[in-house]
Amino acid sequence: MLTHKIEEVRANVKKWKSEGLVIGVVPTMGALHAGHASLIKKAVETCDKVIVSVFVNPIQFGPSEDFDKYPRTLEADVELAEGIGADLIFAPSADEMYGEGQRLSNDTLTYVAPPFFYVNKLCGKSRVGHFDGVCTVVMKLFNITQADYGFFGQKDAQQLIILRKMVNDLNVPIELIGCPIVREESGLALSSRNKYLNEKGKEDALALNKILNNIKMCYNKGVTDISALKETAFQFLNEAHELEYLEFVDKENLEDKEKADDNTLVLIACRVDGVRLIDNILLK
Ligand code: PAF
Repeated sequence: MLTHKIEEVRANVKKWKSEGLVIGVVPTMGALHAGHASLIKKAVETCDKVIVSVFVNPIQFGPSEDFDKYPRTLEADVELAEGIGADLIFAPSADEMYGEGQRLSNDTLTYVAPPFFYVNKLCGKSRVGHFDGVCTVVMKLFNITQADYGFFGQKDAQQLIILRKMVNDLNVPIELIGCPIVREESGLALSSRNKYLNEKGKEDALALNKILNNIKMCYNKGVTDISALKETAFQFLNEAHELEYLEFVDKENLEDKEKADDNTLVLIACRVDGVRLIDNILLK
């Protein structure tokens, strides 16, 4: 069932809770693909009732980012989510989420702001305010759905680590489940933004996965020096690529690694033909 209304979600949740059912939420921005499908499938396997939210959250986009052109495919999203077994698709308007006419700024809105250490690196460096927007909307979704479990993709690894920190710091009664990255056969990590790529762009985008796999291969052969591992990336980059970062951090707390080890998460962000893509790999 599709609803645009918070009240309707709450009414369903109240009924489900009174029946002692376990509720899962899969927060998304829509344009659902096989990566989202794997989250919904996991949620359906884990929970009695599953809510999928579809909301392109304005407050997590910077002024020069792709909010307006972000793909919106609600009808197909509902079909996909229901086909997997989701019970409720919650697709609110911005007015419904933030209040009619609400000015979406941190002068006027209560934000959930994750700690500076977690946001002043990786994606947060170029996307100032992004994780405040993510945490704020996800906290709202947790409060609206009262879910027992929340399902998120490992592709947005920094996001997942920050959300775990938020849940822990604010004692939010929910367990977060991280689900593996889903890739095309070519190795390209699935992303709604892949829709912006043409055939050549998709070919160029494979560099991200190649760089990460190659780093893991070198690590497995015994290379732990991070500069040396970073060096190996350049053979995969050409004029189509604008590397934003390639970083080696602890998989739990995002602390920079001095040497690569089994707990190292390698993250990359790169513009490919102008499209910003991210990917990551765990070295273990
Ligand atoms: O990962 C996303 O799609 C978004 O950041 C999320 C978690 C749905 C919040 O808008």
